[in-house]
Amino acid sequence: MKDELLELRNRALKELKSVSERPDIEKLKHQYLGRKGLLILLLKRLAELPKEERPAIGKLANQVKEDLIRKFQSALDSLAKKDLEKVSVLDVTLPGRRIPSGHLHPITQITEEICNIFVKLSFQVVQGPEVELDYYNFEALNMPKDHPARDMQDTFYISNNVVLRTHTSPMQIRIMENTSPPVSIVAPGKAYRRDSPDISHTPMFHQVEGLLVDKGVSFGDLKGTLTTFAHQMFGPGTDLRFRPSFFPFTEPSAEVDIRCVVCQGKGCRVCSHTGWLEILGSGMVDPEVFRIVGYDLESVSGFAFGMGVERIAMLKSGLDDIRLFFENDIRFLQQF
Ligand code: PHE
Repeated sequence: MKDELLELRNRALKELKSVSERPDIEKLKHQYLGRKGLLILLLKRLAELPKEERPAIGKLANQVKEDLIRKFQSALDSLAKKDLEKVSVLDVTLPGRRIPSGHLHPITQITEEICNIFVKLSFQVVQGPEVELDYYNFEALNMPKDHPARDMQDTFYISNNVVLRTHTSPMQIRIMENTSPPVSIVAPGKAYRRDSPDISHTPMFHQVEGLLVDKGVSFGDLKGTLTTFAHQMFGPGTDLRFRPSFFPFTEPSAEVDIRCVVCQGKGCRVCSHTGWLEILGSGMVDPEVFRIVGYDLESVSGFAFGMGVERIAMLKSGLDDIRLFFENDIRFLQQF
């Protein structure tokens, strides 16, 4: 029986060596050490032995059993360890995966930059509708129905008295209508005109409107404010030129040019060889506009201005085609 026990142990160990999958090991373990396993079957015959041989064989049987239990356990343990190594392929020293993040559109960036300059000068940012009543877009801005100035702007009509706003100036009226002076606002937003797209026109573009009304506001205040703006936007040394112009809702009116940022005034293609670049329209609020919104002409005065965001963005970045902003080519946009 001693030989049989040792033989059983050797056989079990040999078979254990030949298997590597968990189910096979479990099966083998069950076959040898299970409740109806080979070892138990063998031990059942212990009773048949002479009494004096039993303790020695019993002791050996226990050793064999414990030895086998240990060997099976260590086979299962090393398998578990291997499994763990397989799943823990996480290498914390590897560099992280970059999550691509977008950014604001260049037009939004420039709009914010413009507004921030005026916010520091204590202007408030307001916004209004793009689909606008004829009244706010034209009528209240001193452009009655048959006014020739309406031809300056090719308008998208929604109906007889509803338009896509052709500029942000209607916000001047909307603000003055329900605020009493003093007011100082900037109004960024989209504007629409029936232009065929070319290098300097798109049917939708962006403007920032400005309006300041208070007691004793002079043309000097307009010049000072816009000079401060241009110096912050284009650099402290930027030369400005105020050129007489006309808008139905300002009197007097002026267009503001800056010294060409490309040729420094020598004359080039960008400035059409004039040395100057127009950046905005402006003027003192026309008394007729004050009358329409019900402000007291005797006690207040004010100035207004409107600038094209795309134009300023193009001058700042040296671009010569406005359409680039709206093609949404990611390779273009990523550069801002
Ligand atoms: N609204 C004018 C335009 O679109 C610009 C402007 C605004 C001029 C305010 C004077 C005052 O061209």
